[in-house]
Amino acid sequence: MQMNDHKSHVIDDLIAMLGEKAVLRNIDDTESYLSDWHGRFHGAAHAVVLPESTSQVSAIMAYAAERNIVVVPQGGNTGFMGGATPDESGDTILLSLRRMNKVRDFDAKNMSMTVEAGCILQNIQDIAEDSGLYFPLNLAAKGSCTIGGNLGTNAGGLNVVRYGTTRALTLGLEVVLMGGEVLDMLSGLRKDNTGYNLKDLFIGSEGTLGVITAATMRLFPKPIAVSTAFAEVRDVDAAVELLHRAQAASGGMVEAFELIPADIMHVLFEAFPNIQHPLATIGEMNVLIEIGSTNPADNEVDGNGSAPIRRIMETILGSAFEDELVIDATIASGDAQRDALWDVRESSPESHKRAGKVVRSDVALTQSSLAPFYADMVAGIKEIDPNIRICGYGHIGDGNLHFNLIQAAGGDPDFEAKTPKMLKLLYDTVTKYDGSISAEHGIGQVKREQLAQIKAPAILHTMRAIKGALDPKNLMNPGKVI
Ligand code: FAD
Ligand code: LAC
Ligand code: ZN
Repeated sequence: MQMNDHKSHVIDDLIAMLGEKAVLRNIDDTESYLSDWHGRFHGAAHAVVLPESTSQVSAIMAYAAERNIVVVPQGGNTGFMGGATPDESGDTILLSLRRMNKVRDFDAKNMSMTVEAGCILQNIQDIAEDSGLYFPLNLAAKGSCTIGGNLGTNAGGLNVVRYGTTRALTLGLEVVLMGGEVLDMLSGLRKDNTGYNLKDLFIGSEGTLGVITAATMRLFPKPIAVSTAFAEVRDVDAAVELLHRAQAASGGMVEAFELIPADIMHVLFEAFPNIQHPLATIGEMNVLIEIGSTNPADNEVDGNGSAPIRRIMETILGSAFEDELVIDATIASGDAQRDALWDVRESSPESHKRAGKVVRSDVALTQSSLAPFYADMVAGIKEIDPNIRICGYGHIGDGNLHFNLIQAAGGDPDFEAKTPKMLKLLYDTVTKYDGSISAEHGIGQVKREQLAQIKAPAILHTMRAIKGALDPKNLMNPGKVI
């Protein structure tokens, strides 16, 4: 009874602050906010609140600090680590930034735009393109994820090889601390060495240090001449060699370089039989390469009968074919073929969701360790069970693999029993090659224990000191990261 009184007071107070419509309480309205994208985590909350302005966020945070109520920030709720799902206690305010979706400033001369945290990534891309510019952050969740969530996780995605992660694209930030204080660090400056770089502390902190309410992001000239190819390669070592050759031959024009092994395609075609197969047969190891130039002349068919951008791709693949790095390849002619190639890559996460039992991962390795890491993993998994589908795929251009392991076609009742062995193999092999257990998805609640195991005590102590200084009562997204 006491709990219910407390809850109804909290709800009344929130309604007084934000208005009736901005405070969701019914299960039908809140359900989609309280479970994660995979349906793996489920939580509860006093309410889901949808503030419209930084001052409303500040009021919520002042209230939460005063009443010792936990706040969990959320954007598009597409994160993979359960970071945006509260625990089951119900004593939480789930703060969704989705209604804060305005563009505050578009400065074409500075090649930057200032956007509120709830802006959907795809909308930011579209607004940049409407002005002939380009915002290069790109992930398959672009239609639902928000820039606030991208900043919260320091998202990577498909174009990091050329433009860096979200951190590298960020010039300024606005953050609200627990207690309600607003840190206005919005700025279009590209250089600013005035003291500690607080902005970078919040990027990738997964909502554990403060709520990001707005950001100033860098824009780029749009690559208007693009060539996209799908190539079967000899092995992972050949893929890495091809990446370096492509960078050298194109003068650093590689926009994306993604690894796609055979099992990725098998799982994909089971889930989406209508997706087109890029080559005549499914090769053991493949890459999707995209190169891009901002020079319009590179897109014009000239006296040689083709556009220069295509010839660069042909040169890259041709010499790699002669040296037996590449076995077969296709270069997209036109947008429809390009989209079809990207469909293969971008539909993979959804196909894994549909495949049911999956051990997911997101590891980073040096370029030199990628091939030996991959070989050790394949050998180790085959020992555990030769029928497990080895879906080590993804952003090999950044040394980032999603080394997913999927139950055999037709199902495997013993898959769960093998999971600890698979995870041990994965983490031991990452450690052997001095890799990272989280390249781009973060820690959330999934990898918190592993983080505590792998980080040196002095590093964990420093992380906890920062957390304690900014959030002494541990009310900002507790149970996540550290
Ligand atoms: P949410 O899931 O809502 O939140 C993620 C974390 O950020 C949580 O800890 C949350 O508390 C925190 N957070 C959210 N908003 C704020 C805020 N305003 N202030 C402070 N903290 C906040 N990720 C990649 O990096 N690369 C990929 O290629 C990629 N591909 C994906 C493909 C698919 C199909 C899907 C479903 C996901 C993919 N992801 C990928 C994961 C996910 O999309 C990213 O992590 C994305 O950045 C999350 O954004 P979001 O708005 O959905 O954040
Ligand atoms: C991808 C997501 C899962 O790259 O990060 O497919
Ligand atoms: Zn990824």
